[in-house]
Amino acid sequence: MNRFFLSCQACLVVCLLIWPPSSTQAEEGASRSEVYKNVARLAAVGDKLFHDPRLSASGVLSCASCHSEKAAFAPDNALSVQYGGVDMAQRGHRAVPSLKYLQNVPQFTEHFFDSEDEADESIDNGPTGGLTWDGRANTQAEQAVIPLLAFFEMGQQAPQDVVRRALSAGYGEALKALGPYLQTTDLFQVITKALEAYQQDWRRFYPYSSKYDAYLAGKTVLTPREHKGLELFEDPEKGNCASCHKSQPGNDGTPPQFTDYGMIAVGVPRNRALPFNQNPKVFDLGLCGPDRTDLKQYAEYCGLFRTPSLRNVATRQTFFHNGFYHSLRDAVAFYVLRDTHPERIYPVGKDGRILKYDDLPKQYQENINMDPPFGPQPGNRPVLSDDEIDAIVAFLKTLTDGYSDTQKRSDATP
Ligand code: HEC
Ligand code: HEC
Repeated sequence: MNRFFLSCQACLVVCLLIWPPSSTQAEEGASRSEVYKNVARLAAVGDKLFHDPRLSASGVLSCASCHSEKAAFAPDNALSVQYGGVDMAQRGHRAVPSLKYLQNVPQFTEHFFDSEDEADESIDNGPTGGLTWDGRANTQAEQAVIPLLAFFEMGQQAPQDVVRRALSAGYGEALKALGPYLQTTDLFQVITKALEAYQQDWRRFYPYSSKYDAYLAGKTVLTPREHKGLELFEDPEKGNCASCHKSQPGNDGTPPQFTDYGMIAVGVPRNRALPFNQNPKVFDLGLCGPDRTDLKQYAEYCGLFRTPSLRNVATRQTFFHNGFYHSLRDAVAFYVLRDTHPERIYPVGKDGRILKYDDLPKQYQENINMDPPFGPQPGNRPVLSDDEIDAIVAFLKTLTDGYSDTQKRSDATP
């Protein structure tokens, strides 16, 4: 039996199954297109709300002020943390993450079993997933409530204030029209769902248009330097970066997300420039608080933050949860110098001792990850040479979206 016959036969079975269309299928088709229309409407309102400063108490700050599309939905400045609040003089204590490639972040769980290892339930990857650096929001709608109401961000007192602002800005009709589709009359809910729908537009938020994606698709080659960087990134004895920042497609063909969504303590130095850190007794402990409040009593979670995707990381001007680093090279060098040359990473105390892991109280320091590239003792040779760090940085630059668009455009121009 040849392949043509086989596919023909398969087609016949399918054709008989779907033809003639029954009235219920026709109805389903109609309601499906109705759903698409509603989702598109919701996303269009979300797009406007996302860019509208009138929703904030100051009247000048929108989601897009901190999450700028031209900077992969992260800030287009190099501040460690951004200004906000009713007077635009307040600052939080966390760097603004990119909003790209969040579509696969799993809901937060304390025990994550990788679906690819399903057969072996014994591999528990520990706390994983959830939105924000500490995973405390499970959906983008839930997350949107946080900046709208945070006193140091958009600064509204209560959901009704946000709704009132949206109504006076002329969104009333659009929001009310979407209520029935979302089965709610609560306009605040419609607002947060619209912001969520906007962030699910793949063309903007997960286009997979980087040079590395083109390389995986066999449409381009990496330079020898980029290729060397990729090898070092994946080599368990060298960068070992890919053990957390996954660089290969999943078994089901999902493009690599450059994160396994795991919660890890890497021991980033304390950012002493943050107002939040002026009090030496105050610490941002990630999973165990203070922003997140449900896991306070778990000492083993203190210092853990979610592994971010490294897609578009070269467009960032601020790195890690507290924005301590401002160059990608320094952020990469941190990994290999942290334990071999702590004097180049951490400050020195009054007694001349190096204040290693200075953003985590002593009793939690055993939570800090010690796997390669971390680990070797002070004085040992770092696992990556200066030249190898540069090669990894060159590779990370291939993760910036827009490469295949540029390719297409330059192919089109004679
Ligand atoms: C003043 C700056 C600022 C504004 C305005 C702002 N954000 Fe953020 N955003 C942040 C910071 C900082 C974080 C990290 C928060 C944390 O980890 O607790 C964040 C995190 C997020 C995340 C989670 C990202 C991830 O990696 O899990 C989403 C989604 C998000 N913001 C969407 C929005 C939306 C929608 C708005 C508007 C309603 C908005 N943000 C307004 C600063 C801002
Ligand atoms: C054990 C897991 C793990 C390994 C291995 C690892 N990372 Fe990370 N990476 C993380 C976590 C967790 C964070 C966020 C930590 C924080 O902010 O406190 C992070 C953050 C980063 C950031 C900052 C991104 C941003 O948006 O601010 C960069 C850059 C980075 N990693 C690059 C690398 C490179 C390069 C390697 C290999 C040399 C590597 N990582 C190895 C878990 C890991």
